[in-house]
Amino acid sequence: MAFKCGLAIILALAIVSMANAGDPDILSDFVVPFNVTPDPNFFTYTGFRVLVGEEPPTAFKVIKASLAEFPALNGQSVSYAVLQYPASTVNPPHTHPRSAELLLLLGGALEVGFVDTTNKLYAQTLQVGDMFVFPKGLIHYQYNADPKNLAFAISAFGSANAGTVSVPNTVFNSTIDDTILAFSFKTDVATIQKIKAGFAPKA
Ligand SMILES: *[C@@H]1O[C@H](CO)[C@@H](O)[C@H](O)[C@H]1NC(C)=O
Repeated sequence: MAFKCGLAIILALAIVSMANAGDPDILSDFVVPFNVTPDPNFFTYTGFRVLVGEEPPTAFKVIKASLAEFPALNGQSVSYAVLQYPASTVNPPHTHPRSAELLLLLGGALEVGFVDTTNKLYAQTLQVGDMFVFPKGLIHYQYNADPKNLAFAISAFGSANAGTVSVPNTVFNSTIDDTILAFSFKTDVATIQKIKAGFAPKA
């Protein structure tokens, strides 16, 4: 009986957490920072205007419209990012802890992939117009294998603040002890230090 009851509670909690898959619900139409009087400009984001007529970047570049850049998104469970991949550049493996990512390829071609919790890789080559979903929390990457042409995409997120955890940066640029990393990656400290050196600020 106690077991059945426990199971029912667990199921009920699971259903509640499924219903709350986005950001927490707010108790007002929208959230306005202290000292701000909302007007149409408050609900307008102009940070992507720089894309019009701009020279393409020389390194992989993300322009975000998330909570930090666009405070009106607070409590709305949505955000965007514009991603630009010059020829032969990568967006290294990373995760978004608070949201799935829905990527729409607008220019070029893109190799994308994610790895699920059983360590299975789902990799795809996208053409312009294709959309790919990276499930919430799973490690994924994008790579422009074309040696000549830029690729660019827009990504939608189901959180105003999806967050980004970069695998290389988190592991090798966060001051985790070299010995711990050497054991973890089944290598020696010298190899770890060599990898870490690549993250040091350029002199
Ligand atoms: C490593 O971390 C520092 C400090 O947070 C940061 O400024 C730098 O950009 C990081 N390096 C790379 C290659 O991400």
